[in-house]
Amino acid sequence: MSSDLDFTGPLRDALVAADFTYDRVAEALGEEAHRALGRNETLPALRRTTSGGPLDTLVRLFLLQTTVPRAQADRALPGLVDRLCTAGLLQQSVGEVAARTDCRPYAATEAGRDHDLWVVSDLTPGLDGAPVAVGPDHVLGISSASTSLAQLTMREPVGSALDLGTGCGVQALHLAAHAERVVATDVNARALWMTRLNAALNEVEVETRDGSFFEPVAGERFDLVATNPPFVISPATGERLVYRDSGLPGDRVVEHIVRTGPDHLADGGWLQVLANWAVVDGRPWDERLGSWLREDCDALVVQRETLDPSAYVELWLKDSGHHGGPDYARRYDTWLSWLEQQGVRGVGFGWINVRRRGEGERAASHELLEWPYDVEQPIGPAIHDWGEAVDGLRDLADDELLARTLRARDDVQQETVGRPGAEDPEAIVLRQQRGFRRARTADTVEAAFVGACDGDLAVGQLLAALGALLERDAEDLREAYLPVVRDLVSEGFLVLG
Ligand SMILES: C[S@@+](CC[C@H](N)C(=O)[O-])C[C@H]1O[C@@H](n2cnc3c(N)ncnc32)[C@H](O)[C@@H]1O
Repeated sequence: MSSDLDFTGPLRDALVAADFTYDRVAEALGEEAHRALGRNETLPALRRTTSGGPLDTLVRLFLLQTTVPRAQADRALPGLVDRLCTAGLLQQSVGEVAARTDCRPYAATEAGRDHDLWVVSDLTPGLDGAPVAVGPDHVLGISSASTSLAQLTMREPVGSALDLGTGCGVQALHLAAHAERVVATDVNARALWMTRLNAALNEVEVETRDGSFFEPVAGERFDLVATNPPFVISPATGERLVYRDSGLPGDRVVEHIVRTGPDHLADGGWLQVLANWAVVDGRPWDERLGSWLREDCDALVVQRETLDPSAYVELWLKDSGHHGGPDYARRYDTWLSWLEQQGVRGVGFGWINVRRRGEGERAASHELLEWPYDVEQPIGPAIHDWGEAVDGLRDLADDELLARTLRARDDVQQETVGRPGAEDPEAIVLRQQRGFRRARTADTVEAAFVGACDGDLAVGQLLAALGALLERDAEDLREAYLPVVRDLVSEGFLVLG
């Protein structure tokens, strides 16, 4: 460990000794104050943390950004206050100590195992309605986007992983739990320093590299690339906040990552991107995004939400503290005019998951799904299952599929819709209770087929039996329903036995 970080071991000891974990802090604050802090309001939490003990002191210092008496800081961080001031985490004035960075506990779950982490980042701006003022090299703490990407990321053990645009290193810390080697890149030197600090504080190995996009890993391939890039869609002409602005216009940053990222994937490796994209006039979103996808990769793209241009601009002008400022209207107008000129009629938000196929393997599968509904979190395992399903199907010719057995997933339920008392339902819906919680309307053949899939009879036998029962031509039924069976497998309703 470099000597400028040799305070991290004693800092970790102090945080452990104070029981400064996510659960203990939540308990100390109580639900109401915890929720208030989630809204950036500190007063209820200040009222709950008056003991002067180490846990309350650390909460007041780092989470509530209030000054504490030097003696209390010394009790919470024995022998460390001066060192942390030198390192830039704390500052002191006569008899009092305040935080210059955030340092918060974070509960992570990997492979079903909970573990406590600590993450140092820049201070959360705008507490208690204070004006948001962040520098161009602000290092974002754990945001809702960070959590979304962490939940999206597959957690299978891998040899190597890349966290592109690491910020405070939160994704790298997650990756270190299941990757033998983790590389984290950023263009912000402060971010890389904080990532090294956080890796040391959490006793994991992360290699940091300075540089833009894939430049620092030229010629290298990874089993997993996870990225929450600076994806804000703007004209890229004004000042740049590096944590959210790529410096490229529009959604060029995401397009660049999707088009070139697979060059840095090992065969079978995944690239997982949290992103915004422009929804432009006259072109369906999935057609535009589909044109970025490569034929040597499978891809599952999920549009989770779309925002009006105006709602989008407001969101990001508030994020940078311009709401209510003297030039708010001018900025709003300029940004909106630019979006209008580009033909942007909405902004999509979602997940892009791309897997590099092996050399010479059959055609890739691309699914672009609009799915704004509630899903099971973490969603990473469902994306992994999608990859397994399309992989399994690709290698099966129709006659091989007819000879295979399938099982309906345990969580699939059938809902029928119709008038009370009616003999036949107007519609049948098959609905997953887990993963993506997909739903699809099924006809009676499809519903009966899924119901009969218990891993016993082969697909061909089941279709033949249904044909006989419904007095339908067996050949016609096979032709009509084999594509449906494929969809049922790739969508996760059925699993190859
Ligand atoms: C939205 S933050 C994500 C931080 C963190 N990975 C997370 O999940 O919370 C985007 C990060 O990308 C970095 N960044 C900006 N432009 C970049 C570029 N051209 N190449 C690599 N990283 C970049 C920023 O400095 C910032 O740390």
